[in-house]
Amino acid sequence: MMFQAGQSLLNLQHRQPEEIVSFFKFVQSITDSKSLQKKILSSTGETAALLFFEPSTRTRVSFQSACARLGLHPIVVSGRQGTSGEKGETDEDTIKNIASLEPSVLIVRAQDELDFKALSQEVSMPIINAGWGKRGHPTQALLDVYTLWKKRGNLQGLRLLFIGDIAHSRIVSSHLEFLKSLKIEVGFCAPDAFCPPLSEGGTRFTKLDEALPWADAVMALRVQFERHNQSLQTSPQDFHLHYGLTTERLRQLKKDALIMHPGPINYGIEMAQAVVQDPRSCVLEQVNNGLWVRVALLHQILGRGAI
Ligand code: CP
Repeated sequence: MMFQAGQSLLNLQHRQPEEIVSFFKFVQSITDSKSLQKKILSSTGETAALLFFEPSTRTRVSFQSACARLGLHPIVVSGRQGTSGEKGETDEDTIKNIASLEPSVLIVRAQDELDFKALSQEVSMPIINAGWGKRGHPTQALLDVYTLWKKRGNLQGLRLLFIGDIAHSRIVSSHLEFLKSLKIEVGFCAPDAFCPPLSEGGTRFTKLDEALPWADAVMALRVQFERHNQSLQTSPQDFHLHYGLTTERLRQLKKDALIMHPGPINYGIEMAQAVVQDPRSCVLEQVNNGLWVRVALLHQILGRGAI
């Protein structure tokens, strides 16, 4: 099993390809079988605490939905407004206090400064990293690669191109933790300020027109202007002109390539609105797969047994 009962999910490091693919098969077995869904999606009276100290739509609601379907009542704290965070309580203290209410699992989105590792040793239930500053977003990386696996079967040698604000992407951080073990080739196309360090490897492109024909799948990323300082040289218009996906540019992409985006999309910056309508786009499929990846993850982490 990829996730042991009671184990936290903080990153995707040191995962074996066999366990990743076996987890994907587990997700697919749930997605494809209504009778299996009936068997595992039962009500137990347990709770799950969802503590989102940074904004979220997809991840929060997807986890909420997964919890509800598994019979885990979701207890949600979204943002600091109306919480004791407004009175100076640290996120760490909030998490520990909520942990004292004995949820079966803590699902946390927080800033880089939170020490997930230390926290996971101080609380008695597993913690799931639901987005951690720039440092990681393992369930998003899992659902992205699950989407590729479901659509392509074999992942070995598949070329995944990231465009956009790669350096500030927690999603890319998590992808880089396990793509190598799956032998997925990675490419990056972005202005220098958005590129990851050269030590991360990968094929580097400066021009999108050269990068697109290379790719089997392209993952556009939101430009996180809020994480850049004032010295950023690139404007949204400039970025779109040089690195934005447009219907014209999609002509350079293979006919069977996949167009992906983890969301939220800023239309007119990393992609034009029409791009999502392209038959190669699987943006909403990613969201649906995210639900089932999280159902499967919670099922395993809560030790609900083999199915
Ligand atoms: N992909 C993702 O993490 O989206 P949200 O920020 O809306 O959760």
